[in-house]
Amino acid sequence: MDTLERQTSIRRTFAIISHPDAGKTTLTEKLLLLGGAIQLAGQVKGRRVRRHTHSDWMRLERERGISVTTSVMQFPYRDCLFNLLDTPGHEDFSEDTYRTLSAVDSALMVIDAAKGVEERTLKLMEVARRRQTPIITFINKLDRDSLDPLALLDDIERKLGLVTVPLTWPVGRGREFRGLYDLRGDQFSVYEVENPERAGIERQIEGWASVEGQAFLGSGSRAFGEERELVRALAPSWELTDYREGLVTPVFFGSALSGFGVRQLLDAFCDFAPSPRPQPAGGRSVQPHEPALTGFVFKIQANLDPQHHDRMAFVRLCSGRYRPGMRWFQVRTGREFKISDARTFFANTRNPSEEAVAGDILGLPNHGTIRIGDVFTEGERLSFAGVPDFAPEWFRRIVLEDPLRSKTLARGLGELAEEGAAQFFRPLEGQDWIVGAIGPLQFDVVAARLEDEYQVRCRFESLPIVTARWVAGEGGTLAVFKNQLAPYLAYDHLEGLVYLAPNRVHLDLTQERHPGIRLESTRERISA
Ligand code: G4P
Repeated sequence: MDTLERQTSIRRTFAIISHPDAGKTTLTEKLLLLGGAIQLAGQVKGRRVRRHTHSDWMRLERERGISVTTSVMQFPYRDCLFNLLDTPGHEDFSEDTYRTLSAVDSALMVIDAAKGVEERTLKLMEVARRRQTPIITFINKLDRDSLDPLALLDDIERKLGLVTVPLTWPVGRGREFRGLYDLRGDQFSVYEVENPERAGIERQIEGWASVEGQAFLGSGSRAFGEERELVRALAPSWELTDYREGLVTPVFFGSALSGFGVRQLLDAFCDFAPSPRPQPAGGRSVQPHEPALTGFVFKIQANLDPQHHDRMAFVRLCSGRYRPGMRWFQVRTGREFKISDARTFFANTRNPSEEAVAGDILGLPNHGTIRIGDVFTEGERLSFAGVPDFAPEWFRRIVLEDPLRSKTLARGLGELAEEGAAQFFRPLEGQDWIVGAIGPLQFDVVAARLEDEYQVRCRFESLPIVTARWVAGEGGTLAVFKNQLAPYLAYDHLEGLVYLAPNRVHLDLTQERHPGIRLESTRERISA
């Protein structure tokens, strides 16, 4: 195996999917701790601070923010190198959250054992499933009162249509939580709360039938034995290929707060999760160990320095090797860039990168020359499918305070849309601008940035729109559609035709009455 192939094969690039409060931040902390990237738990504070107030989030963002440094974290574990991508989960839930899932090879789904599958998890899983992303599940907070583990598995299967294969099983729960049983290895890990900082160092007991095993279970031995038989009878056998195809999820239990069960999880990532996967690109598939570099931009973080309109573009490398000073070809514009200051993100620092390979994420500082969906190569004209726009769920009409600034507004909105900060629509009828967002915090961001960067002051008014669909159709059918539905139609910033649905019934009826028209909830950005 040559070194590029080896280096690529040790990468594990993943994101965490969860509902707010399920324990993503706590778990992230413990993953970094086990990887040796931080020394003490309690250092991953950024998102927790941010979640409490909008103003903190904005201020932090401006002060060269937390969200940049916590967007990507690289850490080693065993002989693997992990790239963990943040999926903001609270008020700042936005398209970035969805797009991040286009840059990972697998995902970790965290579920609160007291709540089961929650709404945000469902939404994120919808996006992950579309790409057949392999999912590993962690059922968290076993140290608290929780639902019956079998009921939790059933919940996942019913709500997500994903077959579950438990690989560990809890011994008791809540106050009675005693530890975990490794269903394949026939081994117990004993839950001890005394030293939560020593995540991953757990006392082991071999064999459930052994004298030690039986002594550990004590009076609960018989009940556990029956449960064990039941689980073994019900669970399908573990097949790596089913997981890799996104059909089956291995399930682990634990308590992120005390770092318990986290080691098993990381081991599973090393053993099962895919290394960088080949990326479909037009007529061919780009292999991760191809020598020539390729990558695509899935996120842009703006406002690092408002004075300079500074931006950081996040590039997911798909093949080749980055070295400082090399020349990159931007497929969309045909321009060449000399890249000497790309950044990597190790735990919570940003450093100039000396080298990066497929699976790694590089940050490219730039002044607005790079867009979401841009593809970089060493000269090949390549187009990766896969950094989509998602139908917004929040809509506001923009009211400009000074009507003379409408041209600047249009320019600002266009640039913000290219960057993916929010989406903008120009209705076929009337002169309004409509902003569309995935999460409501995006409106605050848009208003603040229009004022700071374009000196345009505006406010927002609510609108009776529930969702948007990109319209696809041919000739006469499309003309009829446009004619009949004009009051509900708009153009997005790339001149794509969009139907803005006033309610779900209208959406269903419209689809029913116009079978020749496709109403799509995502739109792929093709960069080439
Ligand atoms: P998030 O990033 O997914 O939103 O969740 P976060 O890690 O912030 O956890 C949400 C709350 O759940 C936190 O409590 C956290 O301490 C708690 N928690 C996470 N994992 C576990 C666990 O395994 N067991 C128990 N018992 N609690 C857990 P909080 O009170 O909201 O915050 P804090 O005061 O602890 O910071």
